[in-house]
Amino acid sequence: MIARGTPPTFATRAEHYRERVVKRLETALSADKRIPPRLVEAIEYSVLGPGKRVRPLLTYATGEVFGVGLEGLDAIAAAVELVHAYSLVHDDLPAMDNDDLRRGRPTTHRAFDEATAILAGDGLQALAFEILCCDDSLTAAPEARLNIVTWLARAAGPAGMVGGQMLDLQAEGKPLTEAQLEDVHRRKTGELIRAAVMMPVELAKPAAGVSSRLDRLATDLGLLFQIRDDLLEIDQDTATLGKSATSDRDNQKSTYPSVLGVDAARQRAQSLYEEIVAIASALGPEAAGLSWVVDYIYGRAS
Ligand code: IPE
Ligand code: IPE
Ligand code: MG
Ligand code: MG
Repeated sequence: MIARGTPPTFATRAEHYRERVVKRLETALSADKRIPPRLVEAIEYSVLGPGKRVRPLLTYATGEVFGVGLEGLDAIAAAVELVHAYSLVHDDLPAMDNDDLRRGRPTTHRAFDEATAILAGDGLQALAFEILCCDDSLTAAPEARLNIVTWLARAAGPAGMVGGQMLDLQAEGKPLTEAQLEDVHRRKTGELIRAAVMMPVELAKPAAGVSSRLDRLATDLGLLFQIRDDLLEIDQDTATLGKSATSDRDNQKSTYPSVLGVDAARQRAQSLYEEIVAIASALGPEAAGLSWVVDYIYGRAS
C-alpha cells in the first residue's frame, strides 16, 4: 500500500501504477482459456501496447485523494483502459478515421484484419464490464459497484463517447461552431476521462461539494485533453505522435485550431488548465498526484 500524497513523487508512483494496471489487464486476459487465441492476440495487441495510461493514472491519483484501497482502483483502472483501447481500435477503422498507425505501430485492423479488429473492440468493451461486475475487491461495496458500472456505461454509451463519435463523423467536411465542437469533444473524449475520476470517487463517498468539484475538474480536463490532442497534430510529427499527424486534415474534421485558430485554441487550453489547477489546489495536498496528471496532460508531447 502506498501512502497518499507523500514521497516518492507522483512521477515515481505513476510508473508503479502503470505496471499495476498492465498486470491487472494481463490477469484479466489470461483468466478465461476459452477466448480464441487470435482474439487474445488482437486484444493484447490493442490494450497492452505502449499507451500513456492517462485514464488509469487519473483513477489512481483520485484514489490517493481519499486513500482508497489499491485493489478496487486496479479494477476501475483496468476497466477504463479497456474501454479506451476499444474506442481507439474502432476509431481507427477504415469506416471511421481510417488510420494505419497507433501507438507507433500498425493499427489493429492493419496488424490483423478488419473483422478481427471489430471483434477485438467488442471483446475489450465487454471485458471492462465483466471486471467491474465480478472483481472481488468491489464485493464489499455493492452499491458503489453499481454506481461505478453506471458511470462507465454512460460514459462509453450512445449519449457519451459513442454519441460523440457519431457527431464527429457526421461533422466531417462541415465546419462546426465552437459550441458544437465543444460538445463533440466533451463526449468523444471527455466523458471517459470524467468517468476515470468519478468511478474512484464512488468508493470514497466524499461530501457532495467535494464530489462536484472533482466532477467539474474531470469534465473540463476531458475537454482540455482533446484540445491538446488537436493542437498536437499541428505541433508534432507522425513519428513523435505515434499516430498520423494529418488524420484530422485528411478527414476534414473540425478541430479547435481549425474552428478558433491556433492562437485562440492555445488560449482556450491555457484558461481551462488554469481553472483545473485552481480546483485541484483547493482540494489540498492529497490532490498533488491529481495535479501532476493535469500537468502531464497539459504538457504532453504525444
Ligand atoms: C488518444 O488518447 C485518443 C483520444 C481520446 C484523443 P491517448 O492520447 O490517451 O492515447 P494512448 O492511450 O496514450 O495511446
Ligand atoms: C478519439 O478522437 C476519440 C475516441 C477514440 C473515442 P480522435 O479520432 O480525434 O483521436 P486520435 O487522433 O485518432 O487519437
Ligand atoms: Mg476520431
Ligand atoms: Mg482518430
